[in-house]
Amino acid sequence: MNNPLADFIQDLPKAELHLHIEGTLEPELMFAIAKRNGIPLDFASADELKKAYRFNNLQEFLDIYYLGAKVLLHEVDFYDLTMAYLNTCAVQNVVHTEIFFDPQTHTERGIAFDTVIRGIRRALEDGERQLGITSRLILCFLRHLPEEAAFQTLEEALPYKEWITGVGLDSSELGNPPSRFARVFRKAGEEGFLLMAHAGEEGPASYIREALDLLQVIRIDHGNRCLDDEDLVQELVLRQIPLTLCPLSNLELKVIRQLADHPVKEMLEKGLLATLHSDDPAYFGGYINENYLRTAEAVGLTRHDLGQLAIHSFQASFLPDPEKEIWIDRVNTYCAAC
Ligand code: HPA
Ligand code: ZN
Repeated sequence: MNNPLADFIQDLPKAELHLHIEGTLEPELMFAIAKRNGIPLDFASADELKKAYRFNNLQEFLDIYYLGAKVLLHEVDFYDLTMAYLNTCAVQNVVHTEIFFDPQTHTERGIAFDTVIRGIRRALEDGERQLGITSRLILCFLRHLPEEAAFQTLEEALPYKEWITGVGLDSSELGNPPSRFARVFRKAGEEGFLLMAHAGEEGPASYIREALDLLQVIRIDHGNRCLDDEDLVQELVLRQIPLTLCPLSNLELKVIRQLADHPVKEMLEKGLLATLHSDDPAYFGGYINENYLRTAEAVGLTRHDLGQLAIHSFQASFLPDPEKEIWIDRVNTYCAAC
């Protein structure tokens, strides 16, 4: 069906900044990898599995997401997973992507850190060579695990520093405030990693405050709840701290009741550096273009707003300034011609 707004979003150059590679594992690929690795799944088919994708909160999603990741054993599995995602980026005109990976999800099962990162890295190199997509890799600590486990993961990551741009913090937010990870983030910062954290998805605005003050992050993943604290909003605006929003994720995890309640428009109006992304697209019913389109339709984003979100995505990225400028110029040229 002809949809001019979908066409506009399709050709808009975009950067993806909030994407868990394990969350791109489509049911069909999960079944294929499970079969070749001889791993039994609790579901008869990919369609059966998809029916289980109904979540009332973050934890219900995470339980299924960690189960799904268990099919990933070998370097080629991580390669295939990442390559499949990059091919979707090419289709959706995502020209730059900054990918989270959760090494503890795998090392806890006895998979070597080297196996995980080598598979992802090889796909990222092929993705740049074959598809022209630039990328960065970001290691996330699982916040439901102890600080000590995060320290150990950081140690394991040090030999691969050249391949890892930053560290983040994900998994079960409530009851696991950023303050628990202040020391490991300090060490990661000293080692030269760029710092970011999931905060204010289910957790309160005070978790965003802690991420800024105690973890010294330069980007907030989600950050929806900042709107509960006017002083915090003012600081986020003043410092132009990016908030990497994921509307379909918020809808599926019941962070919002309906897409029309998503705060992105309000955030843009307040001058926040908001961006839109897909989080775990295989689980939440859409990649970046579906996030742009469905949110635009639900909250009434204009083409100008969408162009602004794309510009923000490059501004908030870890690309060098000259590359940011090139993409921002291209977005402006594209929007001026529409
Ligand atoms: N929130 C926290 N942890 C996660 C998410 C999320 O949306 N996706 C994967 N790990
Ligand atoms: Zn996330």
